[in-house]
Amino acid sequence: MKLTAAQHQQFDRDGYLFFPGIFSPEETRTLTTEVPGLYSRREDYNVREKGRDAVRTNFAAHLYSKPFAKLARHPRMVEPVQELLGEALYMHQFKINGKMGFEGDVWQWHQDYGTWRNDDLMPTERAMNVAIFLDDVSEFNGPLMFIPGSHKRGVVDAKHDLTTTSYPLWTIDNGLIGQLVDRAGGKNGGIVSPKGPAGSMILFHGCLVHASGSNLSPWNRVSVYLSLCAVSNHIRRFKRPEFIAHRDFTPIETLPDDCLLNDYPVELPWKKGLPASALETSTDELKFAA
Ligand code: SIN
Ligand code: MN
Repeated sequence: MKLTAAQHQQFDRDGYLFFPGIFSPEETRTLTTEVPGLYSRREDYNVREKGRDAVRTNFAAHLYSKPFAKLARHPRMVEPVQELLGEALYMHQFKINGKMGFEGDVWQWHQDYGTWRNDDLMPTERAMNVAIFLDDVSEFNGPLMFIPGSHKRGVVDAKHDLTTTSYPLWTIDNGLIGQLVDRAGGKNGGIVSPKGPAGSMILFHGCLVHASGSNLSPWNRVSVYLSLCAVSNHIRRFKRPEFIAHRDFTPIETLPDDCLLNDYPVELPWKKGLPASALETSTDELKFAA
């Protein structure tokens, strides 16, 4: 899938591109039906909401679930990011966020690259996110919110929030969010939230400031978030477990466009469980040959 010149301009200006319904209901169903089985596992890779059993985030399903392994190699997702970053990509992070009906908690305002830099020593912002909706997303079930154009500020000040929710995040304080929203147009477009059917996709810049509210509706808002990084920009520290920040920098090879609906061979290295090495962490900066 090639991006148009207008889409390149729009991405540069706003920091995101929205593709409503780019995956068909049939394709999306191959993923959705897998999720309850993955969420039911008592494994480190399932992070639950604070004080609750509902899954907030499932990590690294592309390494142990065939449908998600195929999604991780899908050309409709990989090719536009490769075009925007101009380089081969590897998977830095892969998560299925639950945001379950009545249970899904907030994601505070943050930039993903802030966390990738501070925790993982990713050298530059040459990495970005793809969100794929597995449920319809409406104003009721905690849609993602963006401050358009905020990626142009580069990395902004953030503090490490280890307490508010069950998942640590480098979050941005309210004063700065107020300023960024004002500069983006205040009540006229200073915050946007792409909404659409299951199967929609958003590409967004690693420095785009985003958040989402809690889900007080009865409707789940399961979404996949893939973080793709230019191979030369791979992380330099393994401070977070491997199921959160991946250590295999092999370039992604895409599958054919019909891969969700047909059988293609994919490797599932963690199918029999997480290897002990995936839990080992280090605060050392790693040296890689130039
Ligand atoms: C994220 O920012 O990583 C997740 C946000 C969300 O799922 O709403
Ligand atoms: Mn994020």
